[in-house]
Amino acid sequence: MQPVVQIENLTKEFKGKRAVDDVSFTVQRGEIVAILGPNGAGKSTTMLMMLGLLKPTAGIAKLFQEEPQSRAVHERIGVMLQQVSLMDALKVKELLALFQAYYPKPLSLETLVKLTGMTNGELDKRTEKLSGGQKRRVGFALALAGDPDLLFFDEPTVGMDSTARKQFWLTVKELAEQGKTILFSTHYLQEADDIATRIILFNEGKVIADGSPIEIKRNLLRQSISFKLNETIEKAYLMNMKDVLAVVEDKGRLKLMTENPDSVLRKLFELDLRLEDIAIEKGRLEDAFEQLTVEQEVS
Ligand SMILES: Nc1ncnc2c1ncn2[C@@H]1O[C@H](COP(=O)(O)OP(=O)(O)O)[C@@H](O)[C@H]1O
Ligand SMILES: [Mg+2]
Repeated sequence: MQPVVQIENLTKEFKGKRAVDDVSFTVQRGEIVAILGPNGAGKSTTMLMMLGLLKPTAGIAKLFQEEPQSRAVHERIGVMLQQVSLMDALKVKELLALFQAYYPKPLSLETLVKLTGMTNGELDKRTEKLSGGQKRRVGFALALAGDPDLLFFDEPTVGMDSTARKQFWLTVKELAEQGKTILFSTHYLQEADDIATRIILFNEGKVIADGSPIEIKRNLLRQSISFKLNETIEKAYLMNMKDVLAVVEDKGRLKLMTENPDSVLRKLFELDLRLEDIAIEKGRLEDAFEQLTVEQEVS
């Protein structure tokens, strides 16, 4: 299958500082991908380069195997950026009509209202009179106006109240069921876990993990117990111990990977082995995860 999104070695430097550092991945049709990472990880910069709105320092971005700036691509994508900015001096329904007219097969106003939960009152308001939450809802409607195959949302739920957030994700899931491809960025682990079929974890401009939510969480929880052992023991024996996921030998040390170091340690002590210089280490992903907001505060 041809990828819908393809980025290769994408890099962006701002005044010599790398905001995005050699990022590559592809996305297939129908995926719901969360670009997850703490603030400043490079999520927005990556998204802007994917969309052709920011020129990469190095690397390439393709959407539907074409340049992201091409008209053919524009007709197939919908975008809601972190800062929703709407044209002033127009009523919401006029702005929507303008966007609908731009696309070959736009969604009807009725459908857009149903998908986004906009009210009649909002449709008749001028855009500069809208609250932050209302603006976001209109931004969502504009992203959907052309009935796109591929949607980009940058931190879509920031500033939404919990009702608006629920409606938003419900619609996103519905769109995914219709076969649309969705990429969204977030710094909420919970949100990525609830919605995405795949999480691409960013930290300091790099992709540090890429997998299903289950795989990512397993990686997060994985810890290791390492030690020197002054006697010989079958590696297979250690491997078969309860809660041990893997055994590796490294520079004269044995390392047991586990999600439950307490239980493994207890068992090791019971065996009365001559363990020396015991160390317990947390998973590599821990640092990035510690900076993520696990529960989204309900406003
Ligand atoms: N236009 C810019 N000029 C200079 N630095 C920038 C610019 N945009 C982003 N950065 C820096 O690049 C890094 C990544 O930013 P960003 O992609 O916005 O992260 P995220 O969206 O994950 O919070 C941050 O250190 C940010 O300060
Ligand atoms: Mg951002």
